[in-house]
Amino acid sequence: MDRIVLTGGNKLHGTVRVSGAKNAALPILASAILGGGECLLGNVPGVVDVVTMGKLLGILGASVKTEEGRVAISVDRIHSTEAPYDLVRTMRASVLVLGPLVARWGEAIVSLPGGCAIGTRPVNLHLAGLSKLGAEVAIEHGYIRAKAKRLRGARIALELPTVTGTENLMMAACLAEGTTVIENAAKEPEIGDLAAFLVKRGAKISGAGTDLITVEGVRALHGADHEVIPDRIEAGTYLAAGAITGGEVNVEHCRPAHLEAVIAKLRETGATVTEGKDSIRLKASGRPRAVDAKTFVYPGFPTDMQAQMMALMCVAEGTSVITETVFEGRFTHVPELQRMGADIKVDGNQAVVKGTENITGAPVMASDLRASAGLILAGLAAEGITEVSRVYHLDRGYEKIEQKLGGLGATIKRVKGGAAPAARATA
Ligand code: UD1
Repeated sequence: MDRIVLTGGNKLHGTVRVSGAKNAALPILASAILGGGECLLGNVPGVVDVVTMGKLLGILGASVKTEEGRVAISVDRIHSTEAPYDLVRTMRASVLVLGPLVARWGEAIVSLPGGCAIGTRPVNLHLAGLSKLGAEVAIEHGYIRAKAKRLRGARIALELPTVTGTENLMMAACLAEGTTVIENAAKEPEIGDLAAFLVKRGAKISGAGTDLITVEGVRALHGADHEVIPDRIEAGTYLAAGAITGGEVNVEHCRPAHLEAVIAKLRETGATVTEGKDSIRLKASGRPRAVDAKTFVYPGFPTDMQAQMMALMCVAEGTSVITETVFEGRFTHVPELQRMGADIKVDGNQAVVKGTENITGAPVMASDLRASAGLILAGLAAEGITEVSRVYHLDRGYEKIEQKLGGLGATIKRVKGGAAPAARATA
């Protein structure tokens, strides 16, 4: 198992380029199932989740060709309508094939994703929405089975603005008979990007990016070319890296408008943040000030930046309260940060972080994708060496992170292979 080994203490300086958004690329790839013809996708990030989605689509019968950030995909026929457990358990976003499979091929058998490190993460709203669209949905032997001759447009009021749920239903509605209205839809930019791609393919969608999406069903979709939007979470992570090291970084090829809540928080910590057309420059001035942060659905502060923000608060002047409102179990990075000397107390969905001037490097274990990013940031600020194991979590969503941080002046390397660290006792 690979490990990332880093020595803290370097102020980061320089320019880093952001990759395409993983959370936009995944639904866009899944949506290939909805129509024939070739789709050419650009700015696709080279991360493991994208590889997993490619594998899954291959199993279903898609032709997928990948070359340096570009993916050519076509789904003119399929061999199978089943997303097997072995793939779904490694990536929950596999559930994104559910809507497209039922809509175009009349059937989907998708392993039910289990619990995961950040909480129970049910998919009940995806299923209830598909039932509203006229699919017969059942759960059998750990699999979701959904069937429909042709879906029918409907009014779906989501109980919660679920991101992948909104995407699944929006994709399914593209081929339904009649009009679908999704109320209380999630507003994340990745949903807007998926809709933009679907519209290029002949779908009739309006309102994506607002909480009311209307889809007028069409008979078929054709191929189209599309460039995936930049990854706002990766951009935010590099800005936080600049802030935690007291450095100055220029984050290129991003959309500042997608990062307003993150930029506002970073400014509150005392950093000077300048927004360009497609870049953001952050200049830190000494130790960050403690600020409170509460995660919320977009455009609020993203839960996917919570661990990174907490790492920053570990070295801040003062005490901050970090509140997680999206996922109930998303504090698995806390015990690892505590091993680095951070002073954090968790009470329910709140973490009280008392900033300390010196955190120290330590061997730590990544538990989920964004927790891993938080640990890397803490390592950049820590005294001495930090060794982050289980970096496969990180590889799911960050492209070449050690090269990008190395380019900014971090002392960081990937150590290949080696024995797996002994599992820590959980009793
Ligand atoms: C997506 C993102 C993930 C991000 C999250 C929140 C992708 C591939 N992943 O995950 O990176 O952290 O949005 O911004 O885009 N819920 C239900 N029932 C459902 C669906 C969700 O109760 O059927 C709950 C969840 O448990 C959670 C909340 O709704 O508490 C939000 O989850 P959701 O928006 O669905 O997250 P994902 O789409 O899985």
